[in-house]
Amino acid sequence: MVTFQADPSGMSDAIAGMAEQLRAGERTGAEAGMQLGLPAAVVMAGMGGSAMGGELLRALVAADCPVPITRVRGFGVPAWAGPGTLVVCTSYSGNTAETLACAHQAHAQGAALLGVASGGALAQLAEELGFPCAIVPGGMQPRAALGYLFGAMAGAFAACGLSADGIAEECAQGVEACDRDAAAELGRRLAGTVPLVYGSGPLGAVAYRWKTQFNENAKMHAFSHAFPELGHNEIVGWEGADGRGFAIVALRDPDEPVEIRRRIDVTLDLARPHASVVAALEGHGPSRTARAFSLVATGDWVTYHAALARGVDPTPVDAITALKQALDE
Ligand code: PA5
Repeated sequence: MVTFQADPSGMSDAIAGMAEQLRAGERTGAEAGMQLGLPAAVVMAGMGGSAMGGELLRALVAADCPVPITRVRGFGVPAWAGPGTLVVCTSYSGNTAETLACAHQAHAQGAALLGVASGGALAQLAEELGFPCAIVPGGMQPRAALGYLFGAMAGAFAACGLSADGIAEECAQGVEACDRDAAAELGRRLAGTVPLVYGSGPLGAVAYRWKTQFNENAKMHAFSHAFPELGHNEIVGWEGADGRGFAIVALRDPDEPVEIRRRIDVTLDLARPHASVVAALEGHGPSRTARAFSLVATGDWVTYHAALARGVDPTPVDAITALKQALDE
C-alpha cells in the first residue's frame, strides 16, 4: 500500500524556525549595514519570495523612516536611483535575472548597494564591486527563508539609521505568540475555497504574503487587497458571488484607527451573505509590529495546513522551476 507522506521536505520545520531565523538574520544584516551611511532614498529590489522581506519591512517602517522607501519588482530601478540612493537587492538564490539587472543598473547609476543572498551571482557581484552583502544560510525555499531575509534587512536598516533597533526581535516575539492550532483549523476550512485576504496599513503587505503562500504552499488561487481602497472597487465584486466559492480572511489589529475599523466592520457585514467563509483574525503580541509578524506566521501555518488538506506537498513549486528552466535561469 502506498502511504501519503504529508510533508516530505520538512516545510513545517522551516516555518517553525522563523523566530530564530529573524534573530540570526538581524545579526548578519547589522554587520553588512554598518558599512553603509544613511542614504537619501531607498529602493528595495527583489522578486517573489525574496521580495517579501523588503515588502514587509517597508510596510512596517516607512511611516517613521527619515527617507522615502520605494520598491521595484522587475528588470530596472528608477533613473533617479543614483548617488545618495541605497538599492537593496535581495535574491535568495542570488541568481534571479531581474534582481541582478537592478544591481547592475544601480551600480552604473552610482547608487550605493546592499545585497542579501545565500550566495550565487549576487554575492559574487558584491565581492567584485565591493558592496556589502548579507549572506544568509542556503538550501531552503526562498519563501521559507523569510525570517533570514527580513531579519537581515531589518538589521542593516537599523545599523545605517533607517529604522529603530530591535524590529526583528519584536517580530520574533510575535511569531512565537502565534496560535498554531487555530491556524491549522482555518487552513482546513479554507482548503476548498478561493481566499480573498484583506488587511489595512502594514497588514496589507501581510495579506499579500498570505496570498502568495496559498499559491506556493497549497497550490491554489488566492488574492489580496487592502482597506480602505477595496471599499472603492472590490467590494462590488461580492454582489456577484453566490456564497459558495470565495472566502474572506480579514487581518485586523486592536489598534486599527477608528475610521478603518468602521470600514472593515461594514464591509464584512455587506460581504458576509456572499462568502463561503468569513474569518477575522488579530495577531498576538505587545506591539503592532509583533502582531503583524504573528499574522505572517499564522498565514504560513494556515497555508501549510490547506496544502495538507488538499493532499499536496507544501514545498515544491514545479511551475516556477519549469519557468526558470525554460528561460535557462
Ligand atoms: O518562491 C519562489 O521560489 C520564488 O518566488 C522565488 O523567490 C523567485 O523566483 C526569486 O528567486 P530568488 O528568491 O532565488 O531570487
